[in-house]
Amino acid sequence: MTEKKIPLLDVRNLSVEFKVQDGMVKAVNGLSFKVYDGEIIGIVGESGSGKSQTMLALMGLLASNGKISGSVKFMGQELVGISTSKLNKIRGDKMAMIFQDPMTSLNPYLKISSQMTEVLMLHKNMSYKDALAESIKMLERVKIPEASNRIHLYPHEFSGGMRQRVMIAMSLLTKPKLLIADEPTTALDVTVQAQILELLKELRKEFGMTIIFITHDMGVVANLCDRVNVMYGGWLMETASINTIFNNSVHPYTQALLATIPSLDTHVEKLKTIPGEPPNLLQLPTGCPFQPRCSQANHLCSESIPLRRVEPRHVVKCVNAQGVVL
Ligand SMILES: Nc1ncnc2c1ncn2[C@@H]1O[C@H](COP(=O)(O)OP(=O)(O)O)[C@@H](O)[C@H]1O
Ligand SMILES: [Mg+2]
Repeated sequence: MTEKKIPLLDVRNLSVEFKVQDGMVKAVNGLSFKVYDGEIIGIVGESGSGKSQTMLALMGLLASNGKISGSVKFMGQELVGISTSKLNKIRGDKMAMIFQDPMTSLNPYLKISSQMTEVLMLHKNMSYKDALAESIKMLERVKIPEASNRIHLYPHEFSGGMRQRVMIAMSLLTKPKLLIADEPTTALDVTVQAQILELLKELRKEFGMTIIFITHDMGVVANLCDRVNVMYGGWLMETASINTIFNNSVHPYTQALLATIPSLDTHVEKLKTIPGEPPNLLQLPTGCPFQPRCSQANHLCSESIPLRRVEPRHVVKCVNAQGVVL
């Protein structure tokens, strides 16, 4: 019998709620998924579907009105409820996160050299000289030209794409096991975006890294990911390998997202979007939150819908799905 692999990340029944004046915003609802060593997982969904809050929750970075429940095991260790100091240590050493706007993580008043060397001096006990040499190496690794000179510049002296490379280099300094990238290429033009995706693929191989890549763009998912979690209204709607998602998806929401990918051979004037509005997270329906926008909805969609395993590692929350209830 083959030994059962332990996932690097095992998220079970994760929920995130925010207390606001009008009630509770249910941003993430009973989410479960696993990530194995070396995988690149895409988390895809429209704006407001709970992608960022899922990742902020497991990094312990929720806003103060947020409440998390459920379980998040990273390398076998439970993260929900552990002390801030323990979480800080894991975050510094083994997990890193990069964002759409690198300026949220870079200090505009400090040279890149100070910001990068500080990470290594703090987490790896290096001297300034060694930390500087290592930081320059990392900038070279993410293909920043003239890294030994440019490391002494301020963040605003870099272009958007180069700043994102700096951010990636900085997140790699501690050689994290898990890199969480939250729409890191959304603000970049397509050519630069493609270069960054290539870079991430190379780095995954070189550093043996696992990557969770958040995006609203199925085209990016197709280019980069091994597996996809499709989210809507804070729910997991469908999870499967990239191949299955593109060839055998079951959920109408997944299919609607796939239909928004611009095709290369037609001239598109306007980006396609899914008609209708995302759900109100203060008043989620009992049934499927996508029902009001779904072309295949029927009377069963208003009832509570279980997750079903259609095939191994292909799970769907839809009345269309046939398979074992999880
Ligand atoms: N601090 C907060 N208080 C109330 N609602 C919040 C807070 N932070 C996020 N939300 C809500 O949670 C929902 C999910 O947000 P998010 O995970 O950021 O979506 P996205 O999928 O675009 O990353 C959104 O409706 C957002 O407005
Ligand atoms: Mg987001």
